[in-house]
Amino acid sequence: MTTKPTAADVVAAGVERREARWLLEEFGGDAARLAAAVERRRRGEPLQYIVGHWPFRGLDLDLDRRVLIPRPETEELVGVALDELAARRVAAPTLLDLGCGSGAIGLSLVSELAARGVRATLVALDVSPGALAVARRNARKHALTSVSFLEGSWYEALDASLAARFDLIVANPPYVGVVEYRDLDPVIAHEPRGALVAADARGVPGLADLVRVVEGAPHWLVAGGALVVEHGDRHREALRRVAAGAGLRDLVDHDDLAGKPRILVAHRP
Ligand SMILES: C[S@@+](CC[C@H](N)C(=O)[O-])C[C@H]1O[C@@H](n2cnc3c(N)ncnc32)[C@H](O)[C@@H]1O
Repeated sequence: MTTKPTAADVVAAGVERREARWLLEEFGGDAARLAAAVERRRRGEPLQYIVGHWPFRGLDLDLDRRVLIPRPETEELVGVALDELAARRVAAPTLLDLGCGSGAIGLSLVSELAARGVRATLVALDVSPGALAVARRNARKHALTSVSFLEGSWYEALDASLAARFDLIVANPPYVGVVEYRDLDPVIAHEPRGALVAADARGVPGLADLVRVVEGAPHWLVAGGALVVEHGDRHREALRRVAAGAGLRDLVDHDDLAGKPRILVAHRP
């Protein structure tokens, strides 16, 4: 590579053209850093970790290997959650983001609600201290102050005084089955396994964390409050049964852009 690299140099080094532009934009002023970035990409590391930040809806989120790279279907989940809140016209909603990772879902909600003149309060929770560090950084980066962070496993981390207090619970828990994980694109191995893989439950691969999130929701939601949860495309029927069994009502399924069922909305009566 020359000292003033061009997109053609980066492509010639083995990077796809669109990605080469990203790398040049980020590291083009520093040939040594660019060369290191190209080498990381050539070894298969996701572009988002190399660049260190990535857009998610309206937010530019800092990302590193401690967090899942937020997916496009999760952007849709945020839209569904905003519609739920708009339908209930809660003036100052209290939100819970379970397994917040980078903070993508919860921070987007707070930010987009603020843009509509709604001041939301968010509890963002994750079992991974590394993920929480990234989420905290993203909240600071976007000056989102009405957010508190909790470390712990699902609802166990919440104080009892928060029972029946949340207008909305959002979650994108791990839901890839152990066997399915082995067959996925190896690029996935760069992301934290604990963000992706869940145990089987009720004979369904990857369902265990979804069951915990759904079964726990009624205790923490206000009457009429909504749970909006992302799941794998083979989980819909099993998850609807779990939700109905937990006493949740008015179940609505949303498909992703590929037409696969990926988001369940359920309400506490
Ligand atoms: C699929 S990632 C979602 C991250 C982020 N919400 C997003 O949509 O990009 C799942 C997240 O759940 C967290 N997680 C896994 N097990 C958990 C548990 N028992 N309690 C709380 N969070 C957990 C992981 O650390 C990870 O950040």
